[in-house]
Amino acid sequence: MGINESGQVQTLYWGEHLSAKDHFAAAESMPGASSFDLPVTTTPQEFVGWGGGLFVEPDLKITFPDGNRDLVLKYASHTIDANRLSIVMKDISREVYVTLQYEADAETGILRRSAVIENRTDAPFTIEQIAAGTWNLPRGTDYRLRYLTGHWAGEWSLQEEPVNPGKVVLESRRGTTGAQNNPWFAIDRSGSADQDEGGVWFGALGWSGSWQISVEQDVLQQVRITGGSNAFDFGYLLKKGERFQTPYFYGGYSGHGIGGASRLLHRFEVDSLLPHHPDPKLRPVLYNSWEATGFDVNEAGQMALAEKAARIGVERFVMDDGWFGQRKNDHAGLGDWYVNPQKFPHGLKPLIDKVHSLNMDFGLWVEPEMVNPDSDLYRKHPDWVLEFPGRPHTEARHQLVLNLARPDVRAYVYGFLDKLLKENDISFLKWDYNRNWSEPGWPAVPQEQEKNVYIDFIRNYYSILDELRREHPKVEIESCSGGGSRVDLGVMQYTDEVWPSDNTDAYDRLLIQNGFTYAYTPAAMMAWVTDSPNWVNNRALSLEYRFLSSMQGSLGIGVNLNQWKPEDFATARLMVERYKSIRETVQRGALYRLLTPEHGSEQSVTETVSRDGDQAVVFAFLHSSQENYPFPRIFLRGLDEGATYSISAFAGKLAEGTPKQASGSYWEQHGIDVDLHGDFQAMAFTLKRSR
Ligand code: DGJ
Repeated sequence: MGINESGQVQTLYWGEHLSAKDHFAAAESMPGASSFDLPVTTTPQEFVGWGGGLFVEPDLKITFPDGNRDLVLKYASHTIDANRLSIVMKDISREVYVTLQYEADAETGILRRSAVIENRTDAPFTIEQIAAGTWNLPRGTDYRLRYLTGHWAGEWSLQEEPVNPGKVVLESRRGTTGAQNNPWFAIDRSGSADQDEGGVWFGALGWSGSWQISVEQDVLQQVRITGGSNAFDFGYLLKKGERFQTPYFYGGYSGHGIGGASRLLHRFEVDSLLPHHPDPKLRPVLYNSWEATGFDVNEAGQMALAEKAARIGVERFVMDDGWFGQRKNDHAGLGDWYVNPQKFPHGLKPLIDKVHSLNMDFGLWVEPEMVNPDSDLYRKHPDWVLEFPGRPHTEARHQLVLNLARPDVRAYVYGFLDKLLKENDISFLKWDYNRNWSEPGWPAVPQEQEKNVYIDFIRNYYSILDELRREHPKVEIESCSGGGSRVDLGVMQYTDEVWPSDNTDAYDRLLIQNGFTYAYTPAAMMAWVTDSPNWVNNRALSLEYRFLSSMQGSLGIGVNLNQWKPEDFATARLMVERYKSIRETVQRGALYRLLTPEHGSEQSVTETVSRDGDQAVVFAFLHSSQENYPFPRIFLRGLDEGATYSISAFAGKLAEGTPKQASGSYWEQHGIDVDLHGDFQAMAFTLKRSR
């Protein structure tokens, strides 16, 4: 970037690393397209205020108390401190300062951007639109945009479309991240189907509230990507002397295709973002009884399941919904976080002790931001919910959203969680969130401050997570939102794992998990083995197939163990043991999508190579054999071509005649045939490098 003659911070280049000796022409604003499109609109800028005839998406729009809405920001100064760059900009006449902050991750080249707005005027003003900044692509007309869409039980669909003149807005207006769009994008130039070749520009927002990313091709065919809080219904009152920091907008570039882009993101998340980075703990194999028991939890039933779970090598036992208040179903109890005395007459201790005696740690489900109208909490504090007074409350799953922006609600939520964790030896919380917002009013504050709820709610959510982690350092947390509705780089700074989807059908999961990994690491992707036929679609799949599907992420088990036969326990024991021998590779390694399940593909194959390069793990799935065609040959990637690797199938069979060992080149160039025929078949194998 450079400062042009108008004092704008102008983008000069974003892409592959260049030599430090390379020289850039000085920044000079674009000429403008005509009297209709002035240079402020056509010049690619890092951050631009709405004013002076701007027609592309602004990064910042302000209404001042006198009704004036013009904002023209110019470069004032900058500092560089190690890997951080700060650029201060100021309005041409008002005491409005914006500091653009950039932090570079040396290992992956991923940049973290945000902007800090400072009100040094002598009155409050309202921020009506705010982004962390704008990414400007090199000029080009052949760009393709990829993004993720979805819905409950069908999250993480990869979409692709050309970037055309005009604007595409990816967004959530839901108060939370949402599944309809996820705040991630990737753009390439060639439109190639190859996973590992070609340049890809990508980015993701770290924000769990309403957000937007706009991808705009301007009148000079330049492409700009602007991201931050959603401008819809937005209005943040910034008082005199206050500062407002935007969510982070992360961005990076890979010269190795969309596969390379996701490998960079995975590495960044594991090494620089997730709690305990650069060495987050491997995910333990967990058991969760939700699909087995629903709300019908009690001491004896959970103990019986725990005993069975321990027999197959489970390391963490999690009790889901139903343990608290008057919770018999989803009509009542949310908000009343005391242990239900009928279900657990002696509190949680006997169950927790039992779980510990079986060498597992104990986890518990909570949904802290919600309340059922049928609860003691709501009867006592009906004013604690998001609402427009005098208007109906729209319920979803019979629940309302507590206004976490309120200090008293924040104190209540933190208080009960802290107490729960102090009084019980709990190692893990599954933090759920089962609806979106409606009637987002905050009547307790002055009207001009009400819309601060979009920001203050999320800030309080993060601050509770942060404080809990500091007070209870051994507790791990999962972000779940009725499935994958709250997965983003914001919440992943505070949570060790996320739940991608309530859809646990192992075949549907191939596509869901495939989409998930474009943006997020398998190290955080929970994947349970559940009962067959599956409740979602009545599909029946073998236990081995279900395990292999889940073993591509962080393995969990959610079956009704009371209905298992001895041979199921034997299979499960074996698969869990095998998973433990490959989990470091799966959770930390480099993922290659060899055959994606996208576009109705009959096959799906993933490969993960461990960080030290000594192990590769391959999972192969066949939907159905057609007309006796063999399964396509599998060509591995990411191996050391000169090294020797021995191959061994740990589920299913390799084709007859497969050599026991061969060079990396052989496995990559000659490839591997596997013996997969029929419907819903799966197999897996490992390669081990000889030393
Ligand atoms: C939705 C979650 O996604 C499920 O796993 C389960 O925890 C239920 N909520 C419990 O109400």
